[in-house]
Amino acid sequence: MIAGREAAKHREYAVATEPQHTVGPEPQAVLEPLTGAAIFLVLTVDEGGEDEVRDLLTDLPGLVRAYGFGAPDARLSCIAGIGAEVWGRLFDAPLPLQLHPFQPLQGPRHRAPATPGDLLFHIRAARHDLCFALAGEIMGRLRGAVTVQDEVQGFKYLDVRDLLGFVDGTENPVGPDARDAVVIGEEDPEHAGGSYVIVQKYLHDLDAWNALPVEAQERIIGRTKATNIELDQDDSHVALNTVTGPDGEERDILRDNMPFGSPGRGEFGTYFIGYARTPEVTEQMLRNMFLGTAAASHDRILDFSTAVTGTLFYAPPAGFLDDLPPAPGAPGAAEVPAPAAAVPAAAVPDRSPAGAAAVPVRADGSLGIGNLNRSTPS
Ligand code: HEM
Repeated sequence: MIAGREAAKHREYAVATEPQHTVGPEPQAVLEPLTGAAIFLVLTVDEGGEDEVRDLLTDLPGLVRAYGFGAPDARLSCIAGIGAEVWGRLFDAPLPLQLHPFQPLQGPRHRAPATPGDLLFHIRAARHDLCFALAGEIMGRLRGAVTVQDEVQGFKYLDVRDLLGFVDGTENPVGPDARDAVVIGEEDPEHAGGSYVIVQKYLHDLDAWNALPVEAQERIIGRTKATNIELDQDDSHVALNTVTGPDGEERDILRDNMPFGSPGRGEFGTYFIGYARTPEVTEQMLRNMFLGTAAASHDRILDFSTAVTGTLFYAPPAGFLDDLPPAPGAPGAAEVPAPAAAVPAAAVPDRSPAGAAAVPVRADGSLGIGNLNRSTPS
């Protein structure tokens, strides 16, 4: 496994020395490194709430600057993602080529449900208070226009470990490789600079996990626990998620997973978030985990981790937010075709999220600092 992996890395290098991305539109902050805190908001847009959502998207870069300016070291950022089902309600613009609803999976033992989500806000900073303030501002502005499907407040745990106790994120691509793996290029010129992002909320059975000997945990993950060294184990989580393309090159995604939980409620989880240039790569990883491969019937991490949400979004490039396409029905807007429904690979779409009950938006979310849109200053 490791030898094959190194060979793949070399092939990847060979590919990497050829021209990769011609520099195109600037992505949102998808390439930012992991931070100490994150908030994930997944919302659906209520009927009639489209204008408020468009206003908020336009204001978002200004809001991030407003809250982040006083604390530059904290690197506050917020990535907005848009789901397939709301696209035609918000924009008179072609659907990104590979944007579709999340495909649920039903494996022999475990299930990856698809759950509702029109908008994703992935808020990150070194400081939790900044994430919290920005989330409050966003929700205050969207009050009455959206329904909250899920909100997760994540934190950095020890030396970048998940709550299973393993270092998480080691094999993320960096530098030009990261950009090449996650930013859409000439394959979809209208959406160059964007990314696809899949989120899943996992809840862990930590009592069962912690009852395993450390060596058994290490074989499941595919790395040593204390020293984070990769193991030669072809049915491990790492092996199942090492996906290669037709020429044997590794196909990467960029993960910004965060632990979350509530010891008082006995809730311990990992919020999985993976950015990719095409959702195919993440979808292949999910099929390997849930449906299995020649080497494994399923990813044994799932025997201790239950997926309770699953949603796919498109994160447009930064400039898209500054200059949104016209709204459908606006003067000069054309008819936008509805997105093709995803064909479920092995299950019926589940539109009612377990563990992610829809809750009404708080009425006191706004911090009342006015409209920060550069084009319409308050
Ligand atoms: C319960 C949720 C999950 C946990 C706790 C978890 C944890 C981990 C850990 C500890 C590693 C090894 C270190 C590293 O990050 O490289 C890893 C690797 C990885 N995971 Fe996960 N993961 C989870 C879900 C997923 C999902 C849903 C996907 C993809 C759809 C995924 C994709 C990957 C990839 C691509 C790697 C790197 C493989 C390589 O070495 O090339 N993970 N994960």
